[in-house]
Amino acid sequence: MRLMLSMAVALATVTAAHAQGQPPIKVGLMLPATGTYAALGTMIENGFKLYVQEQGGKLGGREIQYFKVDDESEPAKATDNVNKLIKRDNVDVLVGTVHSGVALAMAKAAKDSNTLLIVPNAGADAITGAMCAQNIVRSSFSNWQPGYSTGVVAAQKGYKRAMTITWNYAAGNETVRGFTEAFEKGGGKVVKDLSLPFPNVEFQPLLTEIAAQKPDVVFAFFAGGGAVKFVKDYAAAGLTKTVPLFGSGFLTDGTLEAQGASAQGLYTTLHYADNLDTPRNNAFRKSFALTYKANADVYAVQGYDAAQILAAGLKAVNGDLAKRDALTAAMHKAVVDSPRGKFTLSAAGNPVQDMYLREVKGINNEYRAVAVKALADPARGCKL
Ligand code: BEZ
Repeated sequence: MRLMLSMAVALATVTAAHAQGQPPIKVGLMLPATGTYAALGTMIENGFKLYVQEQGGKLGGREIQYFKVDDESEPAKATDNVNKLIKRDNVDVLVGTVHSGVALAMAKAAKDSNTLLIVPNAGADAITGAMCAQNIVRSSFSNWQPGYSTGVVAAQKGYKRAMTITWNYAAGNETVRGFTEAFEKGGGKVVKDLSLPFPNVEFQPLLTEIAAQKPDVVFAFFAGGGAVKFVKDYAAAGLTKTVPLFGSGFLTDGTLEAQGASAQGLYTTLHYADNLDTPRNNAFRKSFALTYKANADVYAVQGYDAAQILAAGLKAVNGDLAKRDALTAAMHKAVVDSPRGKFTLSAAGNPVQDMYLREVKGINNEYRAVAVKALADPARGCKL
């Protein structure tokens, strides 16, 4: 017994020494620092760094060194931007980003160069669908997931005629597709899809059309600065009282202080709710508030969990990046003790997670019910 104990201690000392002798792990953060999604990028970065800080600044026994690029949520610049991290900075792992169009370019570059990629927000279905790969995982959601779960709730509430409104790019279109799939399966009909280019916020003509058509319910995907303006414009047009507004939770996440009265009472679904009363969520929110003097939101959670997934991989190989297969296998197999509740990753690398129905009260998205339990993205087109 004593021999086994001293062998275990010796092994731990050797592996710690091994990790100590290593240079830092280079983490490339590609996130928006400007534009309509800038605040989302900051929350993700802060969440990621909070987890690393809680581990004493090391994952798998190795220090973490950050490299940063502002992707501006601009798909046209995405390939050049990600190559700054891959080719110029030689990062070991990419973490990014918020915008689905930018993330698709990142995923392609990560696949081509076999660089590890953890996606801490962007929901582009293809990333854990047709483009799925062993070196790519997501700590957030697929666009289909929040769309689908909102469609389930809207159908259950008995609405029959829905209109949808969003930005015309992958996140908006795929979220609407998920909503339509569940809403029509539940007996409803989407009578009209409205859209405008990202990141435009000239909502007025579209709101006039909603007022004219008078559907039973409107489903919207907007996020960040655009979501703030949309919810305010919807209320200012007097629509909140006549046509219920539902959305994927990004409509009211990280936006409530700016939306104020216009957001009160709105229902959305998402994989997080501010007031989940669990020791894990309470501790996380306290730690985040103490560190950053701000309330955590879903983006902070996704950043935090991206670091947890990386930590699971690095721990399995004691920080040895050369053990690549064991590292990626451990990332895919991680049981993530998230503030949202524990979750696992699908074979395609996307969270299998509870989707919550939330209602806006004050500056919180309050938990109301589980909309769909352990929802797994269908991973259409994924071949591993
Ligand atoms: C996206 O582009 O995938 C996205 C952006 C903001 C919030 C949610 C999704």
